[in-house]
Amino acid sequence: MRKPFIVANWKMHKNVEQSVAFLHKVLDRLPNSDHVDIGIAPQSFATYPMIEITQHTNLQIISQNAATKYDGAYTGEISVKDLKDMGINYVMLGHSERRRFFHESNQIVNQKVLAAANIGVTPIVCTNEDEESIVVNNKRYYILRQLHNVLQGLSIEQLQKVILSFEPTSSIGEGHEMNLQLAERGCQLLRQQIRLFYGNDVANKIRILYGGSVNPDNIAQVMDQPDVDGVLIGRASLDPEKFVQMANYQNNYALALQN
Ligand code: 13P
Repeated sequence: MRKPFIVANWKMHKNVEQSVAFLHKVLDRLPNSDHVDIGIAPQSFATYPMIEITQHTNLQIISQNAATKYDGAYTGEISVKDLKDMGINYVMLGHSERRRFFHESNQIVNQKVLAAANIGVTPIVCTNEDEESIVVNNKRYYILRQLHNVLQGLSIEQLQKVILSFEPTSSIGEGHEMNLQLAERGCQLLRQQIRLFYGNDVANKIRILYGGSVNPDNIAQVMDQPDVDGVLIGRASLDPEKFVQMANYQNNYALALQN
């Protein structure tokens, strides 16, 4: 049984004061970590105060990015080694916005994934479609070339710990909607490819998250899909009430079924 993972990706939102205030609003209303993992990826400067506040809680503070190198003359970069020293266990890598606005290639993402995995920080490896390979509702989506390139060089043991995500660009951000069928299809294809290349054991263990217009109204539906093990949430995660609702989707869903 793969443990669900609910991740808030705050992107370039909230200053330190707002990030800390958010934590104080939600911390005692999050579910028990035996049933679900919950994480927040704030802006880099907010990770430290947030780590301090969440030290003895179940909430994971996640980095939105990291460099390919551990240290050296790389102005503006974030060392995954130092993230680890600070107590960070997860780093998001290869988000479509990093690829689109900062020209991160599969090769760069792969180097970042290796740097993180080799030092013991779990990469959340993001993939998005590329209009050539999957057909859903008469539209073509291509995600698999990215997948194989970004995972190159990882051992089977490392692969089992990696977290993957499928975030179709057509569903991310203002003016877009989640397509439930595409969400499951994308995650299913990722798992099928993992099964084909790395075997049943890895495919059954690896967690695959879906991202794109997830909100309190659709989270239970998407989490109900067989190949979706978690979600990456942008806009809706910025509101503390919505975040608490989504983190507790299992309880809320059970209550809704009872009524
Ligand atoms: P939205 O939830 O705002 O569509 O963003 C999704 C995303 O990019 C999560 O990483």
